[in-house]
Amino acid sequence: MKDIIILGIESSCDDTSAAVIKNGELLSNVTASQAVHESYGGVVPELASRAHELNIVPVVDQAIKKAGIAKEDISAVAFTRGPGLMGSLLVGVSFAKGFARSLGVPMIDVNHLQGHVLAHFIQEPDVKKETPQYPFLCLLVSGGNSQIVLVKAYNDMEVIGQTIDDAAGEAIDKCSKVMGLGYPGGPIIDRLARQGNPKAFTFSKPNIGGYDYSFSGLKTSFLYFLRDRLKENPDFIEQNKEDLAASLEATIVDILMKKLRLASKELGIKEVAVAGGVSANTGLRNAFLDHAKRYKWNVYIPKFGYTTDNAAMIAITGYYKYVDKEFCSIDKPAYSRVSIG
Ligand code: KG4
Repeated sequence: MKDIIILGIESSCDDTSAAVIKNGELLSNVTASQAVHESYGGVVPELASRAHELNIVPVVDQAIKKAGIAKEDISAVAFTRGPGLMGSLLVGVSFAKGFARSLGVPMIDVNHLQGHVLAHFIQEPDVKKETPQYPFLCLLVSGGNSQIVLVKAYNDMEVIGQTIDDAAGEAIDKCSKVMGLGYPGGPIIDRLARQGNPKAFTFSKPNIGGYDYSFSGLKTSFLYFLRDRLKENPDFIEQNKEDLAASLEATIVDILMKKLRLASKELGIKEVAVAGGVSANTGLRNAFLDHAKRYKWNVYIPKFGYTTDNAAMIAITGYYKYVDKEFCSIDKPAYSRVSIG
């Protein structure tokens, strides 16, 4: 049988990434991140698009070379069609369509969020990895999303709970900004939290029904708490940053795990995965391991490289769609907003 070789392209936010997957196995995954945003305290869309424009050709070229294939070997080009920043998406989408057309191969559009969930199915050569059994629950937590996804098949996913306001990563980043720490706040809070007491301070937790989340109340509670303490002691943050980070992280992890436990119990599903940028968080990873022991969950935690945006997850999704002949036509536009289902 002819090899199925998928080139995946990801450009939804501030990472330009390309990956090659052959018969379901990863051959290369190359990502160019954009440091340009750090000094602005957040992603600047216009700068992101320009950086993608500069990075896309060398990144794709490197991914093909690293994979040890020729571009003529590619069976199809899979690309993130959305959701994401429109200007960023347009670079990857336009490049992918043009490249596929020039090679005379099919185009495959991929939902970025579906890609995050399917990152659990990326197989690396010589590494035997357990993959989740359907149906499973996936906690998808990133800078833009906090949702619980019921995954019934690679192409059948249902969002059963989601944030009604801020995403978990967004809340962490904003609280870190209030503390005067750098951007993105997630990794900084994570590092500080390892040296702090998670029970030192208490912040408000939401009280909403079902499997939905809310993080805006926590953010406000954190802000007011700091404002009051700073009135008494201007050095409060500097003197307590480890405890603040640990308490904030513990509150967010508690909020996330509580709804996930509820969903697992009510739906009777013990296959539970985590995905997205915030899944790099040590406290959250530990909570998953703890739940595996305590509630007999089979947990799936991605490798660090597959927590953030990457093209390997787009290529593996593209591979499944290729097998099912799920191709897209050249006139399908990028979309900035869309749900996973
Ligand atoms: O999925 P992702 O890379 O992209 C966007 O959604 O934009 O997620 C980025 C988010 C940011 O909010 C970042 O602060 C957070 O993931 N993050 C973390 C950690 N690493 C990244 N949050 C907590 N702990 C971490 N170690």
